[in-house]
Amino acid sequence: MKIFVDTANIEEIKTAFSYGIVDGLTTNPSLIKQASQLFKQPMEAYINSILITAGKAPVSLEVKGGNANDMIKQGLNLYKHFSTKANLVVIKIPFNPTVDEKKPQHFEGLKAIKELAGRGIPVNVTLIFTPEQAMLAAKAGAAYVSPFVGRIDDKLRTDAGMKFDKAGYYPLDGMEQGGRLLEDNGIVSGVDLIEQIVYIFDSFAFTTEVLAASIRNARQAREVALAGADVATIPFNVLTEMTQHPKSLEGMKAFLADTVKDYEVLM
Ligand code: E4P
Repeated sequence: MKIFVDTANIEEIKTAFSYGIVDGLTTNPSLIKQASQLFKQPMEAYINSILITAGKAPVSLEVKGGNANDMIKQGLNLYKHFSTKANLVVIKIPFNPTVDEKKPQHFEGLKAIKELAGRGIPVNVTLIFTPEQAMLAAKAGAAYVSPFVGRIDDKLRTDAGMKFDKAGYYPLDGMEQGGRLLEDNGIVSGVDLIEQIVYIFDSFAFTTEVLAASIRNARQAREVALAGADVATIPFNVLTEMTQHPKSLEGMKAFLADTVKDYEVLM
């Protein structure tokens, strides 16, 4: 499974790339907002520094939204602005950009995906919450679909009236309440969403990559790999969590204490 880093924080990006574990990165407007507050740099220079750090690794930049024409324009402008021979910009399009239920825009994302993909621009389709959304995005020409693992778990727990910590683990096979499995129209967890999409894509030989997004803890990162995700985009704090185990610490302390001088001088 490829690992992307899910951040717009340049220090986190530089650090993650320096470890040789990162194959790409994803941003969204919220991550860009957080980063711009932190560094107070002109936006264009800031994004260019992200792209220089990433080199040829794919970097997803998300459009603002609106109807298909708006998003095509935003996507083309972002692509023209930032895509060079030295980097790989991916345009992130929300699957369904509706913000007012009275003014539905249900197919506008699909139209934008088709147009941008048809022009050879790689498209990452974001805010995917069902396998059927993923299928339609793939049919329209998406290079990646981004199902949101953590936000599905948030919804299942919120709908059930449970108190939860966002970073907390939610089991792959779901949770029961009063003898009933919690589900969102047949999806029992965020990882289950990934598993179902991977199964469908494999069954019909879709070439669109499944990019597991909204990863909140190390166990989810493992389970989306087990589910066959092509990519997981992982925040820096979760990458850090993935490096740790109490027995690693305990074992390291013991080996250090046992290192005799005669051996140490040979190092
Ligand atoms: C991908 O880039 C998504 O926007 C991101 O993973 C969302 O994560 P969140 O649900 O933790 O905000």
